[in-house]
Amino acid sequence: MSPVNRLQEVPTRPFHYAGARDRDLLCDRVSLARLVREYGTPLYVYSATNILGRVQLFAEAFAGMRATVCYSVKANSNLSILRLLAASGTGFDIVSGGELERVRQAAKSSLRRVVFSGVGKTAAEIDAALAARILVFNVESPAELDLLEQRARHLRKRAPVAMRVNPDVFAATHPYISTGMTTHKFGVAIGDATALYQRAAKSPYLVPTGVSVHIGSQIRVTEPFGQALQRVMEMVRELQSLHGIRIQHIDAGGGLGISYDDPAPTGKDRKDAQAFDPMAAVRGYAQHIRTALAGFDGDLLLEPGRFIIAQAGALLAQVLYTKRNGSKTFVVTDAAMNDLIRPALYQAYHSILPLRRQRNRPSAVVDVVGPVCETGDFFARDRELPALGAGDFLAILDAGAYGMSLSSNYNSRPRAAEVLVEGNRHRLIRRRETMRDLLAGERIFLNGGTE
Ligand code: LLP
Repeated sequence: MSPVNRLQEVPTRPFHYAGARDRDLLCDRVSLARLVREYGTPLYVYSATNILGRVQLFAEAFAGMRATVCYSVKANSNLSILRLLAASGTGFDIVSGGELERVRQAAKSSLRRVVFSGVGKTAAEIDAALAARILVFNVESPAELDLLEQRARHLRKRAPVAMRVNPDVFAATHPYISTGMTTHKFGVAIGDATALYQRAAKSPYLVPTGVSVHIGSQIRVTEPFGQALQRVMEMVRELQSLHGIRIQHIDAGGGLGISYDDPAPTGKDRKDAQAFDPMAAVRGYAQHIRTALAGFDGDLLLEPGRFIIAQAGALLAQVLYTKRNGSKTFVVTDAAMNDLIRPALYQAYHSILPLRRQRNRPSAVVDVVGPVCETGDFFARDRELPALGAGDFLAILDAGAYGMSLSSNYNSRPRAAEVLVEGNRHRLIRRRETMRDLLAGERIFLNGGTE
């Protein structure tokens, strides 16, 4: 890995103004205006350097512990990004057969560093993961443990198992992405887990190897991570001392949050925001984990998704129209909620910057919206932005995680293209969908037959 002091050189976001009179928005050293000319919009752009810098931050913050980052594939599952991460030594947290297949295609040798989470694993998904010899199944219910045993017996394999425990710890975040309380569907109540370990230990087809816990996503106040792991540690000690079951790894899940409302390079976007320091954030998080796990002689797995890739990416869009309705001004872009659903689904805030900064342009308070036929199709509401006109381009920041991976074809809109920037180079890592792609799976039936 690169020397730790180089981390200081990886900025929080790779997007910054440069060029003549600091007018052009760049990703690392690549002009975004150039990328939209070459690839069109809507376009996702990611910085490889920024992604790897975040992985390195984890390595540094957890130095001295036997820690492995198992990047959470759901945050952004592009094959090139998985390959990039695998090459830096990460494992992967998956939640479906589809994500397993992505890891297989992008980084086959990393299959042995895959953890499989999720409350609804199917028999076919379990079979595929058993055949792939993944690191561990994070089991979320007694019924799943039964099915896993059945499938392992059928395939004559032994399945490595971790119970995903639900520690009943509250962590402040949006209610849709909070997972660590018994009112949520996730995990096994921590009080019920011991009995499941005993069952697994008796089975010739199951090997209890670990414990996992994941309390939610976009968590900025990090004490609850420590509280959850303290509860896990109590259980781990009890399993060892009372039941002779030795836990070899603890999986602390993902969930470390970022700042979405950090001051953008314009400095004007949000006046009240504090500058976000990713290094301090991971260090604070690691400190809670270290304290909770003091004395644990085993491996630590971490499943960050957002923290690794959210700030490395932006969604680029072009303004199609501006319009006024009553007192409101709308900026209509060619990107929409099908490309980035976070504002619509979680009322999420994303900073927006023009690709070309014009210093003496007045600002205006606008809603930035897409063409989809829903009032919830917006990227920003009542936002003060430099005045934008038809034809202008803009960047929606912090869109690297849960952007493209949550995109859809709603309103029959082909999905965006994706580009990976490395220093001054850029590569298309997913081409824009075509009309042909859009319709490829469908058949027209007429009078019971195909046309
Ligand atoms: N591990 C498990 C078991 C998870 O369920 C998740 C996320 C992660 C790890 C990664 O969490 P992260 O480090 O990215 O916070 N679509 C939402 C986020 C959903 C998170 C789901 N689970 C959003 O856009 O905010």
